Amino acid sequence: MTQRQRFEGRSIIVTGGGSGIGEAAAHAFAEEGGLVTLAELDPDKGQAVCDAILAKGGTARFVRTDATDEASVRAMVAEACAAHGPVRHAFNNVGGSKPGSLEGLSLDEWNWTMALSLTSCFLAMKHEIPVMKANGGGTIVNTASMSGRIFTPAAAPSYSAAKAGVIHLSHYASCAHARDNIRVNSVLPGLTATPLVAQMLTPEQQAEIASEHQMIPRAVQPAEVAATVLFLSSDEAAMITGRGIEVAGGGTHPG
Ligand SMILES: NC(=O)c1ccc[n+]([C@@H]2O[C@H](COP(=O)([O-])OP(=O)(O)OC[C@H]3O[C@@H](n4cnc5c(N)ncnc54)[C@H](O)[C@@H]3O)[C@@H](O)[C@H]2O)c1
Repeated sequence: MTQRQRFEGRSIIVTGGGSGIGEAAAHAFAEEGGLVTLAELDPDKGQAVCDAILAKGGTARFVRTDATDEASVRAMVAEACAAHGPVRHAFNNVGGSKPGSLEGLSLDEWNWTMALSLTSCFLAMKHEIPVMKANGGGTIVNTASMSGRIFTPAAAPSYSAAKAGVIHLSHYASCAHARDNIRVNSVLPGLTATPLVAQMLTPEQQAEIASEHQMIPRAVQPAEVAATVLFLSSDEAAMITGRGIEVAGGGTHPG
């Protein structure tokens, strides 16, 4: 079977592309001909993923970016356009959380999670949308989480609220920019076997959680989220916008 080339020659931004879901998506976009700007805070991780893509014959460029800082995001979008042409597709994927309960979280911890998981999507879209608008349109996928849709006891309230915000902000953007030919969707991964998760849970614990909360009793693989992101970004999904798509093995309300 020949490899599909749905993104041939198209300028693509992936934030948090140095690890996990973002890394898988960066590889997948490049394998289908995309010109990837890998926006990542950690220079070692970002450069390593770029080098791996280049070694396979793909096109990728690392731009050190703090997705929570507006000047950094503005400069990254400008650099992506200068290097690869006007941005046509964006995968705004940065996110994360400080653990804690409603009673135990400090305001700083709450704000940190909001900045990383929600403000990062706002800043990215704020600077990507004008470029897309001026160049005939584009697509955006933001990474939310099942924690933004259902109660997941292990998630901090700040993370759940931020990811619910990502789902709604994506919906808002899809409504506001549909007539600009910009589609905006979010993906809601369930427990995904990324380095972030491996630091916290053994493979056995991951399988146990998946078995308890999902119809399909195993952790999601990063490449499975990436495949959904590519579909939503591709012309095949031309009539899909404003949706939050679960990639979670049929994840269900746990309690
Ligand atoms: N892994 C899961 O189970 C899971 C489930 C649901 C949602 N998610 C979401 O998926 C996304 C990716 O998660 P992952 O598990 O692949 O994480 P990961 O830690 O493997 O990768 C995240 C990447 O983002 C980078 N990063 C961190 N802060 C940044 C910043 N300020 N600016 C730019 N880059 C930054 C990190 O260096 C890292 O390379 C996150 O939004 C996360 O909340 C993950």
